[in-house]
This record gives sequence, C-alpha cells and structure tokens, in this order.
Amino acid sequence: MKEEVNVLFKEEQLMSKIREIADQINRDYEGKEVYLLCILKGSVYFTCELSKYIKVPVKLGFLSVSSYGDGMTSSGAVELSNDVDLDVKGKNVIVVEDIVDSGRTLAFLLHMLAKRKPESLRLCTLLDKPGSRVTEVAVDYVGFEVPDVFVVGFGMDYAQKYRNLPYIGELVFKEGK
Ligand code: IMP
Ligand code: MG
Repeated sequence: MKEEVNVLFKEEQLMSKIREIADQINRDYEGKEVYLLCILKGSVYFTCELSKYIKVPVKLGFLSVSSYGDGMTSSGAVELSNDVDLDVKGKNVIVVEDIVDSGRTLAFLLHMLAKRKPESLRLCTLLDKPGSRVTEVAVDYVGFEVPDVFVVGFGMDYAQKYRNLPYIGELVFKEGK
C-alpha cells in the first residue's frame, strides 16, 4: 500500500493559529508564570512554537505517555513512560497536546497531575477530534477541530514517520507501491 498525505492545515495556518492561542494565554496569565508541560513526542513542535509567542515567563516540562502503538487506533491502555520534570506543585500548568482523540490520555494525565497540587491546571491542544471521544475532558485552548480521520505532521506520526512535516495532513492509503 502506498501512503499519501493530503494537506489539511498549511504551515502558515498553523502558525497564525498558534499565535492566537499564545495571545489568549498571554491575556489569561498576565502577571503570572506558566509551566508548559509538553507531552512527548507529538507535541514537541507545537510546544516550541507556542512558547516563542508567550510573553509571560515560561518554564518547560516534558513527559511521555502513550496509548498508541504503531497502529492507527488507540490501544485503550495509557502508560506513563517518562515521569521526569513533574514538580508541578504550586505551578500554573498548561498541558500541551498535539491532538485529543478518545480523551483517555488526557483524562489519565489530568487526574495524575491534579494530585500533585498545581496552582492551576489547563489543557491546550492543537487539534481536537471531538467525534472520537470516549472519556470526557475539558479542553481550555483548541487550535482546530478535525473530523475522525488519521492525521500526521507537525509532530504527529504514523509508525514514527511524518513528524517533521511542517504542515498537517490526512494520511491515506492507496493501492500500489
Ligand atoms: P487519546 O488518548 O485517544 O486522546 O489519544 C491521544 C494521543 O494519540 C494523541 O496525543 C496522539 O499522540 C495520538 N493520536 C490520536 N489521534 C491521532 C492521529 O490522528 N494521528 C496521530 N496521532 C494521533
Ligand atoms: Mg500526543
């Protein structure tokens, strides 16, 4: 099967949306410091770009959770594979995600983080697939809503490929090589 990526959001569209989200964060956190918690690996590109436009002081944290294997559907089981940088006590934490799909990853994470007593805890995602939600999660900042298709690029992968695309597209499979 041949893989093709049909562009959904061009680089310029992504960048202008990211600046809009940063502006909202700047307004909401005026006079405060934010702790951006990047969920590896998918949110790396989004977190880096977003952080550049945030004007209040920013600290960065990284952590990995996974509910996806190399396939396109979630396994359902969420694992925390890297629990570093998680001293969130007293911080204004914004969890930064690439995409919220079933909602399982974030429900798990938010529950775990809330127990560590942050000053505040919000969620920011570049893409939201509300049609595939299994678990309710309250998302505070959303870039774009997408239908229930499999997307890649700007950090998001299929079997670890395509993360480096500067745009986001739908991954489609075609007959042939
Ligand atoms: P959830 O736990 O089902 O909400 O899955 C969240 C994670 O699955 C996201 O953070 C992504 O890393 C991954 N994911 C969900 N949908 C897609 C997709 O369309 N393309 C690539 N990764 C996806
Ligand atoms: Mg992710």
